[in-house]
Amino acid sequence: HINNINQSSSKDDRFSSSGFIFAAIGSAVGLGNMWKFPYITGQYGGAAFFILFIACLVIVGLPVLLAELAIGRGGRGSASSSYYKLSGSKVWSGLGMISVIAPFIIMSFYAIVAGWTLHYAMLSFSGKLFSNSDFTGQFNGFMSGYYPIVWQIVVLLLVAFVVMKGVSGGIEKFNKVLIPGMLALLVIIMVRALTLPGAGSGVSFFLSPDFSKLNEESALVALGHAFFSLSLGMGTMITYGSYVKKSQSLGAGTLAIAGGDLLYALIAGLIIFPTTFAFGIDPGQGPGLVFIALPAAFSAMPFGAFFGGLFFLLLAIAALTSTVSLLEVPVAFTMDRFGWSRKSSVWIIILGCFILGVPAALSLGVLPELTIGGKVVFDWMDFFASNILLPLGGLIVTVFAGYFYKGVADEAGLTAGWFRIWLFLLRFVAPILVVFVFLHTSGLIKF
Ligand code: PHE
Repeated sequence: HINNINQSSSKDDRFSSSGFIFAAIGSAVGLGNMWKFPYITGQYGGAAFFILFIACLVIVGLPVLLAELAIGRGGRGSASSSYYKLSGSKVWSGLGMISVIAPFIIMSFYAIVAGWTLHYAMLSFSGKLFSNSDFTGQFNGFMSGYYPIVWQIVVLLLVAFVVMKGVSGGIEKFNKVLIPGMLALLVIIMVRALTLPGAGSGVSFFLSPDFSKLNEESALVALGHAFFSLSLGMGTMITYGSYVKKSQSLGAGTLAIAGGDLLYALIAGLIIFPTTFAFGIDPGQGPGLVFIALPAAFSAMPFGAFFGGLFFLLLAIAALTSTVSLLEVPVAFTMDRFGWSRKSSVWIIILGCFILGVPAALSLGVLPELTIGGKVVFDWMDFFASNILLPLGGLIVTVFAGYFYKGVADEAGLTAGWFRIWLFLLRFVAPILVVFVFLHTSGLIKF
C-alpha cells in the first residue's frame, strides 16, 4: 500500500501496459465518436464516408499517433518539454506550447457538453425527459437556464478528482473500470437498436457504400475527424506517451488504440443509424441529433427511459474519460515547467477552464449576444482550438518526428520495412494532408 502511494506521487508514476491502452482508448473515444461521428457520417453520405474515415485513420492517424507516443516516451516530459528535451531547442518547446493551450481551450467547452450528457442521463432515468414530447423546447429550456453551468462544475470536479490521484492511481484506474464498462453498455444498447422494427435500413445506410457521394469536402472532414477522434495534435498522446514503460511496444499500442477507437465508432453507428431510421429521423441533422432527435426515438420505444438513460450515461463516460486526458496535458506542463504540485496544478487549471467555459456556456443560452463576427463564443472556442490549433499541433508533430527527432527509430521500435513506410507517411503524406485540412477548416479554401 505504501508503495502505491509513493508511486502515484513520485516522478516515475507510470501506466501499466494495459492501463496505458485503456487510458489512451478512453481519451480517443469521446463525444467525437458518439455524437459527432454519427452526424457527420449522416451528412456526408453514410457508408462511403465511414470507409474514408477508416482510410484516414490508417494513412494519417496511425503514423501521427505513433509519432506522438514516441515523442512523449522519448522526451519523458509534458507536450512542450518533451520537444525541448529531444531537440535542445527552445523553438520546439515554444511550438509545443500550441499543444498545451489547445487542450486547455477544448476542455473548457468539452466539459460543458459533458455536463449536458450527465443532465440528460438523469432526466432520462427519472422519466422526466419523456413527460413532455417537445424535445426541442426542453433542450432550449435547459440551455437558457443556469443548469449547464452547474453541470459544468460537476464535470470539472469529477475529472479533477481523478487527475489529482495521479497517473497509475487515478487516470489508469478510472479508465480500467470505465472503458470495459462502456463497451458493455454499447453492446446492450446496440442490441436494442438493431432489434427495432425498421432497423435494417439504418444498417444498410451505414454499411453499404455509395462512393458517388464522396468529394473533396467529405475527404477533408473525414481526415479532420480522424485527427480529433484519435486525440491527436493536442498534446494528449505525447503526455500519455511520457508515462509508458520502455518495455511496452508503441507500435502494438498504436494499433490497439486506433482499433479501439474504430470499434467504438462502429458500434455507435450501429446504435444511431438503426434508431434514427426506425423512427424516421434524419441522421444528418447536425448537433441536435443526440439531444433532440434521439429522445424522441427513446420515448417511442419500450423501456425507452431505461435505454435512453443508459445511452446518455454512455455518452457521459465517453466524455469524462476524454476530459481527463485533456486536463492531464496542462497539468503535466505546469508541474514540469513551474514545479507546481499535482494538486495545485489541477486546481488552478480547472479554475481557468471554468472561467473560460462560463462565457461559452452562457453564449448558448442566457447570453446569446456573446458573439464575435456572428459566431457565438462557444463556436469560436471550438473553431479556434479544433480547426486552427489542432491541425497546427499535428503538423508540428509530423515535421518534428519526420525530420528533426534523431532517435525516433529507436523509440518507435518498428522493423526496418515498417519504419520506412512510417517515415514516408510522416514526412510527405501526413504534413501535406494536414495542411489541406488546415486550409479547409480555417476557411482559407472552400469547395
Ligand atoms: N478524441 C476525443 C473524442 O473523440 C476528443 C479529444 C480530443 C480528447 C483531443 C482529447 C484530446 O471525442
